[in-house]
Amino acid sequence: MADANLAIVVLAAGAGTRMKSATPKLLHKLAGVTIVSHVLATARQLAAAHVVAVVRHERDRLVEVIEVDLPEALIVDQDDVPGTGRAVELAVAALPASFAGEVLVLNGDVPLLDSDTLTRMIARHRQGSAGATLMTTSLDDPSGYGRIVRGNSGTLEAIVEHQDASADVLALSEVNAGIYLFSGAHLRESVGKLSTDNAQGEKYITDVVGLLRESGATVEAWEVSHSWKVEGINDRAQLAAAAARLNALIVRGWQLEGVTVIDPASTWIDLQVQLAPDVEIRPGSQILGATVIGPGAMIGPDTTLLDCEVGAGSTVKRTDATLSVIGENASVGPFSYLRPGTYLGDDGKIGTFVETKNARIGTGSKVPHLSYVGDATIGEQSNIGAGTIFANYDGVTKNSTDIGSHVRSGSHNVFVAPVSIGDGAYTGAGAVIRKDVPAGSMALSVAPQRNMDGWVEKNRPGTAAAEAAKDSLGK
Ligand code: UD1
Ligand code: CA
Repeated sequence: MADANLAIVVLAAGAGTRMKSATPKLLHKLAGVTIVSHVLATARQLAAAHVVAVVRHERDRLVEVIEVDLPEALIVDQDDVPGTGRAVELAVAALPASFAGEVLVLNGDVPLLDSDTLTRMIARHRQGSAGATLMTTSLDDPSGYGRIVRGNSGTLEAIVEHQDASADVLALSEVNAGIYLFSGAHLRESVGKLSTDNAQGEKYITDVVGLLRESGATVEAWEVSHSWKVEGINDRAQLAAAAARLNALIVRGWQLEGVTVIDPASTWIDLQVQLAPDVEIRPGSQILGATVIGPGAMIGPDTTLLDCEVGAGSTVKRTDATLSVIGENASVGPFSYLRPGTYLGDDGKIGTFVETKNARIGTGSKVPHLSYVGDATIGEQSNIGAGTIFANYDGVTKNSTDIGSHVRSGSHNVFVAPVSIGDGAYTGAGAVIRKDVPAGSMALSVAPQRNMDGWVEKNRPGTAAAEAAKDSLGK
């Protein structure tokens, strides 16, 4: 049920210069999700009657994300007048004139704030009679934030931006979190009066506090004790800190759901990942994107899985895999590289120093050692000999290799695609397979071996090899 009296404004128009990035600040990710997507998800949970997103810098890239995450959001373009105050002014003007509820303003760069905390702040505001309630927190290092200035009786007097603050004010540790709840009527009235008369030449939303007080309204400060929830992201150090914090929460959440994570500090799990009970994740592993892992699977150490599926009971060690599916009770690694389109059936194996791409390896089939399998299908219960290369590229086109079930291929084969090997066929060691092999055949392609007796003694006389040969032959 939508809250008819709530409108949310998401501020997403800033340039994010402190990131020093070609990517807009709000599109940097933590836990696999962009900063702005975290904020939009929170906005969605609050079920407001209206959501307005204000954009300007790289607006098309932002809008693309907003339209996927929150299609009902109204997009408002900020003009040349800079500052959070101008952004709110334009957002409020875009709300229906009939809207008479509260306006919740969310800084777009505060990704860890959860909807439960906001719900509590909204309830608190609605119980009282303040013209606005704003969220604050106390920080050991408040630098960069607007400071909360309180009067003798503790009432909120003003927010002073870091750049505009005196030494006394800079020493205050209580800061503005950039999250505000205004009564719509009060906001409409005061936001038009903002000026750009400050160190940054911007309209500050924070100056609304002073304007509201001048008009006789009270402004409440609502302090959050878990300050990490409201930390803003301005630079990459803050991004890394917030990402680590979120990751710790995600890891702990899965631990409480029955997942063993041996070393939370070196384990990274994205927000959308799904893990079953009794999954074990060993140190140095990244479980990313939309990866899904089944019960009892053992992942790591040192494994990266992006958008993969791993079946129950499988083990995946020291592996890098993307867009791949691993069946149940299968074994992958150590040192395997699974590129997109790899499918490994139940009880199958992709072993040490094996690279696969667009390859379907059937139930119980194994590629145990030192091989490249690209653009291939392998049936069930087949074994690919060590050091085999699927030569899928002739310099012009990619071709595929089709290997049947119960095939035994010799070591060090080259399958020159397109080629197919019938069910139950064998190939000899070192074979270069250019022609199809019928079911049940043995394919050999190497010249017969010739031994030239006495070659070493004759051509390398006096060497250690020649002496060893002489001794061995009893000469
Ligand atoms: C802002 C607050 C500061 C607070 C801090 C909390 C102001 C003036 N200052 O500072 O008191 O302690 O957040 O994190 O509001 N944005 C726009 N249009 C603009 C400028 C910014 O939409 O013209 C958006 C940005 O994209 C960002 C948010 O507003 O999502 C905050 O902007 P930012 O420049 O990061 O403000 P701070 O300097 O962090
Ligand atoms: Ca900020």
